[in-house]
Amino acid sequence: MTLVRPMVPRDVEALVALHGEVLDMEFLTRYGPPFLRTYYRAWIDAPGGIALTAVDERDRVLGGLLGAVDPAQHVHAMLRRHGGALGVRIIARAATHPQLARDLLVTRGRRYARGVVRMLARRLRRNDTSESPEAPRTAEITHVLVAADAQGSGTGRQLVEFAVQQARAAQRHEIVLVTPPDQAARAFYERLGWESDGEVTSRSGEKFVRYRLTLGAAPSDEKRRSTG
Ligand SMILES: CC(C)(COP(=O)(O)OP(=O)(O)OC[C@H]1O[C@@H](n2cnc3c(N)ncnc32)[C@H](O)[C@@H]1OP(=O)(O)O)[C@@H](O)C(=O)NCCC(=O)NCCS
Repeated sequence: MTLVRPMVPRDVEALVALHGEVLDMEFLTRYGPPFLRTYYRAWIDAPGGIALTAVDERDRVLGGLLGAVDPAQHVHAMLRRHGGALGVRIIARAATHPQLARDLLVTRGRRYARGVVRMLARRLRRNDTSESPEAPRTAEITHVLVAADAQGSGTGRQLVEFAVQQARAAQRHEIVLVTPPDQAARAFYERLGWESDGEVTSRSGEKFVRYRLTLGAAPSDEKRRSTG
């Protein structure tokens, strides 16, 4: 039996190990376990996020999902509260992994540098409330991962459905995600009713397929309208 619940700090160690195993092709994985530990803790801590863990009846971690109901608020809070610690972990890893350092400079150097400048400027202006100016329309999922020995038994579906419920509860109009074009995950999202929305190229130059699920009105809104 799989149970999905909010992610808590004690899940992080198992999720970091799982991330390295099932998302080994991802750039973030190359930053290493100390970075991923900080990243998962930051994700849980920052407001506006979705962080879910799937466990079995003995609370063994089977999978996890990261996303956001307010992506802008969440990324600003992550960077403001944990940007320094994340940066230190990346630099420490790059210092001992020359190929990573080269790839990092080529694909992400300018973007990361601009991010640091923006973060410092916001601090100087002291006006970063880390709240979006108006309610966002779009929630997002950034990572879904299920342990190899638990795949194919409905865990991924439960995680995604829980995230969709959170997006509905926050009254978002749609939820989006991107996944690499050659990944088996595409069939998974399509099976869950997500619609492919074309190919996109990330700011770091990698190709992804974008998927979207339109949420429409939350069930409670529909009920309120229908009852007058
Ligand atoms: C993709 C992933 C999250 C799916 O999780 P899962 O627990 O194995 O999937 P589920 O068992 O919940 O499957 C839900 C449905 O999708 C279908 N499905 C899942 N993977 C599929 C695949 N590769 N091809 C076709 N259908 C697939 C299942 O058959 C199931 O359909 P059903 O309910 O009608 O039987 C999991 O395989 C995984 O972690 N993969 C590695 C990491 C990854 O690629 N993550 C996504 C990119 S961030």
